[in-house]
Amino acid sequence: MTDPLALLRADRAKARAAGDPQGNLCVLATVDGGEPQARTLVLREIETAAGGAPRLGVLLNATSAKYRQLGQSTAVTVHVHLASVGAQYRLVCRLEPVPKAIVEASWRLRPAVAKRLDWLYEDHPQGSAVAGREALAAMLATPCPEFAPDSALGFYLAPTAVERLLLDQPDGVHDRRRYRLTPNAWQEEVLVP
Ligand SMILES: Cc1cc2nc3c(=O)[nH]c(=O)nc-3n(C[C@H](O)[C@H](O)[C@H](O)COP(=O)(O)O)c2cc1C
Repeated sequence: MTDPLALLRADRAKARAAGDPQGNLCVLATVDGGEPQARTLVLREIETAAGGAPRLGVLLNATSAKYRQLGQSTAVTVHVHLASVGAQYRLVCRLEPVPKAIVEASWRLRPAVAKRLDWLYEDHPQGSAVAGREALAAMLATPCPEFAPDSALGFYLAPTAVERLLLDQPDGVHDRRRYRLTPNAWQEEVLVP
């Protein structure tokens, strides 16, 4: 039985090996009062508390619009386009929280400015307006604590449905397949592309 997450991992590995700038990225789509919203995020392999294979996930800040929007739908869509592989993935996912200690360990590896921004969000939420670039630079001038604020969060993707579109087929017809998670396994269907 085909596991679409294994396919995604393999395609991401090929894309990264080919130097694809999208190889580590995804687009996270949410809804805000019924309106669609989308933004690029790093799609990470995040370790789990149980050990074993890492899971795909994203890191974000709780002061962000995207975090607020997570409460407005039961699922999100994660979109991945790997141009170097000719593959598109559309994943309908629930999000499961990453344990704080794992977020913390990853946060400590971040560049200094990213750490300062996460602390700045405590007083100035991500996406709030500031007086200008100079004012922002002044706010980021002072060092921040060397641990993550509580607003630094991580979520594992728990997909329930995945669509994969492969472009480059010998017969010229794109290969479009839908995978649905049933209690025991992924079910695969071939779709009209
Ligand atoms: C290449 C790239 C990678 C990004 N990675 C992240 C990320 O991992 N986490 C994040 O919160 N924002 C990331 N961003 C910024 C988001 O796209 C977005 O601008 C920001 O999170 C605010 O989104 P929101 O207002 O919809 O919450 C990234 C942007 C780009 C262009």
